[in-house]
Amino acid sequence: MTSESAGSGHSLKDLDIIRQDAESELAAVKDKETAEQFRIKYLGKKGILREILKSLKDIPEKERREFGARANQLRVTIEEKFEQAPWKTSREDKDSLSFDPTLPGFPFPKGSTHPLMRIRNEIRDIFLSMGFSVAYGPDVETDYYNFEALNTPAFHPARDMQDTFYISETVLLRTHTSPVQVRTMENRKPPFRYIMPGRVYRNEEISARSYCLFHQIEGLYVDENVSFSDLKGTLLAFCRRFFDEKTRIKIRPSFFPFTEPSVEIDVECFLCGGEGCSICKKSGWLEVLGAGMVHPNVLKNVGIDPEKYTGFAFGIGIERIALLKYGIEDIRFFYENDVRFLKQF
Ligand code: DAH
Repeated sequence: MTSESAGSGHSLKDLDIIRQDAESELAAVKDKETAEQFRIKYLGKKGILREILKSLKDIPEKERREFGARANQLRVTIEEKFEQAPWKTSREDKDSLSFDPTLPGFPFPKGSTHPLMRIRNEIRDIFLSMGFSVAYGPDVETDYYNFEALNTPAFHPARDMQDTFYISETVLLRTHTSPVQVRTMENRKPPFRYIMPGRVYRNEEISARSYCLFHQIEGLYVDENVSFSDLKGTLLAFCRRFFDEKTRIKIRPSFFPFTEPSVEIDVECFLCGGEGCSICKKSGWLEVLGAGMVHPNVLKNVGIDPEKYTGFAFGIGIERIALLKYGIEDIRFFYENDVRFLKQF
């Protein structure tokens, strides 16, 4: 028996071999599973290092002390190396840190105004400069405000024009911003001028051209002696400021139950200057809004005397104008919040 041998067959040399084996096996550990195998083999209750310490009693007394100290030292070293293994630290750090210090610092990426809100703000600011104020109404409406008070009774065929999301028999998601006209007039005495922006909902099939929700800006002006020429002058001034100062408009007769007469307004195509292009379908004109003189029944419904007061109203589709202005081909881009799309505005 050499000085390095122990009675049980274990020797100090064995400890060196165990150390080498453990270190090379530890270097090969890559994931939780192989780490657990390593831990059981070397550090577990029945692992190699525990077994060695248990065998101390079989070692001759004069060698026991040194062997015990070296075996214990080896266990501590292997435990430490296991705890500090690189796969372990990097993995745990990633899980436990609430921020990633490896991300680039300045400059921070900047957010920007959504294209729809940008158009809404531009339209709003033009009307604010003309003396209009802003009013809002709820997205969840009653049948009364969305239809009834707007001269569209239950049997009226115009209700077919809008596919409605009903919440109950009398509660629905508003299909247009026109109900805000009614709510605004109910509590006020003329004269007043309001624009009313908001989101509206229609149960339409989703496609490049239509979506289940979109945005409108409603306008309303009620006073004594408001005439059709006020409507025409106001909306022409708006179109010239919004599109181009030389833009011409075309007023076509139309129908809405809550206005009489009702019109639709086209602007000269600002992309081809009226020459005719693919966006205006070669007509040279783009349809941008619906308008009309407030129907006497609507005024009556809110307690305003139609003999004394008259008014005009209009509704602008924000998506439609944004699609035209930015040459966007698919309305769904507005709602997907894809940063690659939004970044362009
Ligand atoms: N509410 C109409 C729609 O959603 C748009 C509209 C037309 C609003 C004429 C008006 C108006 O105020 O006078 O299609």
